[in-house]
Amino acid sequence: MNYRHHFHAGNVGDVLKHMVLAAILERLKAKPAPITVIDSHAGAGLYDLDPAGGEWRDGIGRLPADTTAWPEIAAPYAAALAGRVTPYPGSPLIALRLLRPHDRVIACETVEPVAAELRHALAGDPRAAVHRRDGWSALRAFLPVKPGRAVVLIDPPFEDGGDFTRLANHMMEAARRAPTAIILGWYPVKGRRAAEALHGAMRDAGIPKILAVELLTQPDHDAGRFAGSGLIVIRPPYRLDEDLARDLPLLIEAMGWRATGSARVDWLAGETSRDTEG
Ligand SMILES: C[S@@+](CC[C@H](N)C(=O)[O-])C[C@H]1O[C@@H](n2cnc3c(N)ncnc32)[C@H](O)[C@@H]1O
Repeated sequence: MNYRHHFHAGNVGDVLKHMVLAAILERLKAKPAPITVIDSHAGAGLYDLDPAGGEWRDGIGRLPADTTAWPEIAAPYAAALAGRVTPYPGSPLIALRLLRPHDRVIACETVEPVAAELRHALAGDPRAAVHRRDGWSALRAFLPVKPGRAVVLIDPPFEDGGDFTRLANHMMEAARRAPTAIILGWYPVKGRRAAEALHGAMRDAGIPKILAVELLTQPDHDAGRFAGSGLIVIRPPYRLDEDLARDLPLLIEAMGWRATGSARVDWLAGETSRDTEG
């Protein structure tokens, strides 16, 4: 396996994923019940962004330094970044920076040097456990969690097309094992075919509440080109759909992607459907 998230850290896919993860955690904190974040494909935790270039420049690098200019939905993400974009925090660090003392993070990573980097980045935080193990089977091992609420992030590398099917199957299984868990699955958008097949599988899953959110910087009709990314959110918190539909176009505007970008917030199951142009 050759995947290194360092090349992608802080890109527009990370912005969407980490912004939605942060917004969800902030909402769950309104209740005292403990939160367990299960990060099945956790990565290295902290990434030095190369000032000379990199995908981050078309992602976090496009957001204004003044975070008060960011749309409201991004406020918890801004809080997690705490005024510094480098080293850029990956999903386990974003979560830990927002979570409370009685919450925890279970992070899985198969590549030993990456897991070692993650342990170093977590600096002995007693709320976090790093497991060097397969994240797909970890979902079965760790769900359901007790007590409290689980937030599951499934963020595989998509080195081959098989991750779309694995993502759909494991999201469905996780939702069945943990009937109150909020489950997020990230996917790249390179043309519509794979994304639509994933949406179709989730529509047919028999799970009552599933949202699909996409943030694209380019039109998505070209099958080979990375146009942006999406997140499937099973059991999104109340009004997350409305807030994303209102704020994603503002985010596109703030990042200077207005000419070519777009956003979608669609219910795949439950509630209603909605599209928004950037
Ligand atoms: C997209 S990156 C994760 C980024 C991270 N979730 C974030 O948002 O900061 C995917 C990671 O999954 C790891 N990985 C690949 N296959 C895995 C597996 N079967 N189980 C757990 N981790 C895996 C890769 O080494 C890589 O670090």
